[in-house]
Amino acid sequence: MKVVSVVGARPQFVKLAPVSAALEDAGHDHVIVHTGQHYDSRMSDVFFEQLAIPAPAVHLGVGSGRHGAQTGRMLAELDVVLDDQRPDWVLVYGDTNSTIAAALAAVKVHLPLAHLEAGLRSFNRRMPEEHNRVLTDHASDLLLAPTALAMDNLAREGLAGRSILVGDVMTDICLSVQARVRGVRPPEVRRQVGDDPYVLATVHRQENTDDVDRLGRLVEALRGLDLPVLLTAHPRLVDRSAAAGVSLTGGALRLLPPLDYADMVAALDGARAAVTDSGGLQKEAYLLGTVCTTMRSETEWPETLHGGWNAIVPSPPDDLNPVALRPVPTTPRSSPFGEGFAARDVVAALVRRA
Ligand code: UD1
Repeated sequence: MKVVSVVGARPQFVKLAPVSAALEDAGHDHVIVHTGQHYDSRMSDVFFEQLAIPAPAVHLGVGSGRHGAQTGRMLAELDVVLDDQRPDWVLVYGDTNSTIAAALAAVKVHLPLAHLEAGLRSFNRRMPEEHNRVLTDHASDLLLAPTALAMDNLAREGLAGRSILVGDVMTDICLSVQARVRGVRPPEVRRQVGDDPYVLATVHRQENTDDVDRLGRLVEALRGLDLPVLLTAHPRLVDRSAAAGVSLTGGALRLLPPLDYADMVAALDGARAAVTDSGGLQKEAYLLGTVCTTMRSETEWPETLHGGWNAIVPSPPDDLNPVALRPVPTTPRSSPFGEGFAARDVVAALVRRA
């Protein structure tokens, strides 16, 4: 079986790692195409190196831009690349502009399309990611769903016949990396806080970064936390806050460069609490047992709300302490995301439906 994986943004490299290893273990032909949506070394290369992902066979170097221009450039390039490769499956990941571009390219050259992480919904149609995932699901021949709730969402949209529950591949890699890094503080964390308790924060969603007033209130709320807040610097956050004149230091805030995957898992595992707008981090916090606060109106991973492990905060409050530093729940966590063998099941599903 020949599979072409199309990836381009940081979380997709994390998802690609276990899938690539499982395809290789099973002896399949796997071609990786990188759109170039993320291009900084810390946003891309370090993930390939650290997670032992083979270098992409094709790199489109598309780079940043307005959504339409960026997606359009990818579509034009992928149309040619996919037609040239003619795999048994085009495999796309998650909900970024790289995902929707590859999905459209695949269907236009009549190639079977599989969507990994299918069926997630925020039901917030202001999010570019919501359109990317809904449209990709409806274009796909095979929907690889991470959770039972995702399967329900797909069934409600008439897609049950094309859907398979495989579990979450990010869980595979998160649990295996956790076993390696548990108890070891990353150097960037140690440099900022030594052995003291801290909050890990990430902000990158368009709804938080591109509204100046909201961004200002969010940063102010983080500044006012009672523990040091290690804020990892996503390029969108750095870019938009500089343009808006919002400083990312002061008060409790300490700015960290983007972390590689192992350091991110270790930093999250060792944190007293997490504050984030990332989907992946909410789930990783749940898996690692770190109490999480999500600075958004909704979550695509409602399973994480179970027992108070995750809490939604739709609008930044004057005082974030009561929610962000609430006691760590004692409710046992279940395994809604699978047991860490999703990549193996992804490969089995691709073989079965090829
Ligand atoms: C993208 C995804 C988002 C995902 C996120 C993970 C879309 C619509 N959004 O958002 O779903 O959660 O990736 O990180 O696809 N930039 C750099 N260096 C880079 C990449 C980007 O400096 O390597 C800067 C540029 O100023 C760029 C901005 O970051 O304009 C935003 O990058 P972009 O890829 O458009 O979206 P993300 O916010 O990263």
